[in-house]
Amino acid sequence: MNIFEALREDHEVQRTLADKLVETHGDSDARHEAFQQIKTELLAHEAAEERCFYKPLIEQDMTQTHARHGVAEHHEMDELIEELENTDYSSPAWLSIAKKLREKILHHLDDEEHTIFQLAGKVLNDAQKTQMASAYHKHMEERKAQYA
Ligand SMILES: [Fe+2]
Ligand SMILES: [Fe+2]
Repeated sequence: MNIFEALREDHEVQRTLADKLVETHGDSDARHEAFQQIKTELLAHEAAEERCFYKPLIEQDMTQTHARHGVAEHHEMDELIEELENTDYSSPAWLSIAKKLREKILHHLDDEEHTIFQLAGKVLNDAQKTQMASAYHKHMEERKAQYA
């Protein structure tokens, strides 16, 4: 497996969790559970992706700007996660922030898959793409254990 396949696989998980999040209602167990799941998945993915994918891309001229933009979007998603944590689960505001988060996630994943992956494909060799996938998986597992 290469890094693009590894990231795509987890992007699909995020898309599913984001859909699930906006289908929850009020201060329910389902909402708390869906939020916890997406929070863990998102934060672990961001950390592992920045460490194993963006860091080497930041070091290359062709990908530096896009990689930095990707990291900035991670921060925006973190802020929405934090906003959800500080908002009353039963208020209508909660769902509108959750919808904003879902839109941001979908936009970010498309951006990565359509723009950054194409450029990264040009600057990385096959051995790097495979190594990055193993490093990503290892880091992802460690982070998930830490956030769970
Ligand atoms: Fe990302
Ligand atoms: Fe990603």
